[in-house]
Amino acid sequence: MKAAVMRANDAPLELEEITVDAPGPGEVLVKTAASGICHSDLHVIEGNLPMPPPGILGHEPAGVVEAVGEGVTDFAPGDHVIGCLTSFCGVCKFCTAGRPYLCPTQFAGRPPEAKPRLIDADGNPVLQFANLSSFAEKMLCPERALVKIRDDMPLDRACLIGCGVTTGLGAALNTVNMPAGANVVVIGCGGVGLSAIQGARIRGAGKIIAVDAQKWKFDLATKLGATDCIDATDGDAVAAVQALTMGGAEFVFECIGLTPTIQQGVMMTARGGTTVLVGVAPITEMVPIPAADLTLQEKNVTGSYMGSNRFRFDMPKYVDFYLDGRLYLDEMISERLPLDDVNVAFDRMRKGEAARQVIVFD
Ligand SMILES: NC(=O)c1ccc[n+]([C@@H]2O[C@H](COP(=O)([O-])OP(=O)(O)OC[C@H]3O[C@@H](n4cnc5c(N)ncnc54)[C@H](O)[C@@H]3O)[C@@H](O)[C@H]2O)c1
Ligand SMILES: [Zn+2]
Ligand SMILES: [Zn+2]
Repeated sequence: MKAAVMRANDAPLELEEITVDAPGPGEVLVKTAASGICHSDLHVIEGNLPMPPPGILGHEPAGVVEAVGEGVTDFAPGDHVIGCLTSFCGVCKFCTAGRPYLCPTQFAGRPPEAKPRLIDADGNPVLQFANLSSFAEKMLCPERALVKIRDDMPLDRACLIGCGVTTGLGAALNTVNMPAGANVVVIGCGGVGLSAIQGARIRGAGKIIAVDAQKWKFDLATKLGATDCIDATDGDAVAAVQALTMGGAEFVFECIGLTPTIQQGVMMTARGGTTVLVGVAPITEMVPIPAADLTLQEKNVTGSYMGSNRFRFDMPKYVDFYLDGRLYLDEMISERLPLDDVNVAFDRMRKGEAARQVIVFD
């Protein structure tokens, strides 16, 4: 099969012929239909998230089941599925306590002594990213990285639910307990931030203030639910939020992962409010925040990982949200492209020229 391989950090992905193994026990072979491109893939390329090359990125997929391994009972050939990087074991203390997205086994893959799932033309193993590697025509996944969805859901939109939409919606709907009417700020209007805006809208938030450095995103943010937009390159965004909210928003979602915007997020948060860190900072980054504000103003700072998902429960629900018109996915897709153009897509993302880009396979 054709796949885009990361051979080195900070270099274009290379299109190669890769051999994918047959499904073993508990595994499912999926023909990839579409894969969204998430900034976390770019973080890996740029070395901000560790993954030793060679490896195949892509973790926002939808596809059709081609074959199933021994013991797989939840899936059959022909099923439409979304893949999620938070695969779950089902028995650890996180899974059984209702937080399967924190399952420590989620990146385990096949045991080291087993045959690799992916092998290159020279017979060498290629790392599978998050049990998915969707920048490839096929994916060999553990069944617990997949969820079956309705057949009437278009797969080129379903894929967005695999990461960005679940992350943004879930930050607003699962991670925090947001009352109707609460004021919300979303910093960063990429696929993740635009989904947080939609989560806030679905939850019945009051003001939903979008902040971005790219003014062209504001029309889109407004269509998806933003009530106000702030240009981060024009003046003091913190003061602008304080003016709109009488001192700060109850919930601020930082959806970029930069020290200055995380700090701004805390400053934009109201007394007693919550700053939610959704953007991923480089793995070694330390972020100074005003400790006394947290104490004296009872501000909370929390992380939100993959929308605090229980994806077998959440994703089919998000599919229903789309099909009954409450979740807007068509508007979020700025480009559809073939796998051959994956490097062009990353260039667009670096320049802030994309909303969500989707690789569509034949
Ligand atoms: N928490 C999680 O589980 C999770 C899951 C998926 C992605 N992420 C992370 O979320 C972040 C966003 O991902 P994405 O795919 O939406 O990215 P993206 O590149 O599509 O969007 C980022 C947005 O931030 C804006 N921006 C960049 N610098 C800015 C600045 N200084 N001020 C204001 N706006 C600025 C850009 O214009 C763009 O609209 C990434 O860090 C990604 O790794 C986290
Ligand atoms: Zn992602
Ligand atoms: Zn577990």
